[in-house]
Amino acid sequence: KRFVVIMAGGRGERFWPESRIARPKQLLPIVGDKAMLAQTIERLAGLVAPQDVFVITNAEQRDAVLEVCPDLDPNKVIGEPIGRDTAAAVGLATVLVRREDPSACFAMLPADAVIHDANGLRKTLESAFAAAEAQAVLATIGITASFPATGYGYIQQGEAMGNFADRCVYQVQRFVEKPDLETAQNYLEAGNYFWNAGMFIWSVPTIVAELEKSTPTLWQALQTIDQGLANNQNIDSLLAEHYPQLEKISVDYAIIEKAQNVVMVESGFDWDDVGEWPAVARHYPADDNGNVVRGQAELTDASDNIVYCRDAKHLVALLGVKDLIVVKTDDATLVCHKDKAQEIKELVKKIGVQE
Ligand code: GDD
Ligand code: MG
Repeated sequence: KRFVVIMAGGRGERFWPESRIARPKQLLPIVGDKAMLAQTIERLAGLVAPQDVFVITNAEQRDAVLEVCPDLDPNKVIGEPIGRDTAAAVGLATVLVRREDPSACFAMLPADAVIHDANGLRKTLESAFAAAEAQAVLATIGITASFPATGYGYIQQGEAMGNFADRCVYQVQRFVEKPDLETAQNYLEAGNYFWNAGMFIWSVPTIVAELEKSTPTLWQALQTIDQGLANNQNIDSLLAEHYPQLEKISVDYAIIEKAQNVVMVESGFDWDDVGEWPAVARHYPADDNGNVVRGQAELTDASDNIVYCRDAKHLVALLGVKDLIVVKTDDATLVCHKDKAQEIKELVKKIGVQE
């Protein structure tokens, strides 16, 4: 039996004003016409049914998740009272999947990657599942690195382990999460390093063994939640009581960097971790002057701008401007130079929490 668990805890502050605490990037059609999370689930069609998909999200976003993904089993949409990063989410996922089937395999996927080639994704995951079903491995997906990014994990490709579902699966020599720039440059030159797509595929027994070894305290604390569930206690009250105390660390640092049995499937699909407004432009055709418009806009003597407005009755007009990001929502408008897109996060802090 196969399951998918989607990690959807992101706050997406860099997509303000479109994204808000209750409506982060994964719940919005930042790229495409449906919420990123809904697209993530649709891409799995034929591999894992929506009923076998768990979503671990922030409690505040739980209703919105069910709204944009009505095919999900509401019992499998879990709201964390507070984000404890991805190691905790993996631990919780392991508890939940084990309760369904202690010998199942499951994939942990991010909620918001932009992938156009769904078929390529399914084939790649198929091979990772096949490897994880056959052997006690932690399977990752390797993306061809195109620049020395410091925000990704790097996978050093090792010997071929064998073919699984028509694809070669490689041993991983080592995994390094978010190296500094110099190290990343060295990896890029070496050529046998891939970016980690942030997708993990393993069997319940294999990940349980790793959790016991690498994060015993976290795993121990999660057993209390498991016990409570076995006694028919309510999941929300169990999480409210025990989740906030869990160690806050990502799965990459807590488990993958330390594990000896990591393997990699080379991604057979396009992948973009769209993290900020300028990245959106990569997925839409630009006009002759390099402007990318989603919505209605009148552009005169304007070049290389990004306009985003989902209100069909609203017209945005630009005259004589270059390199701007203009985002209009019901209650806020952003006008920002493209070079400052990273700083929207700080701007949001200054403005304060907006629901
Ligand atoms: N439920 C839940 N709770 N989800 C979370 C939490 C949390 O506390 N924190 C993060 N997530 C979700 C995010 O929404 C995203 O879908 C996924 O987990 C990954 O978290 P990020 O915070 O975006 O991780 P990252 O970008 O720093 O690094 C990871 O992804 C890179 C690829 O995008 C690592 O796996 C890197 O190695 C990888 O290269
Ligand atoms: Mg990320």
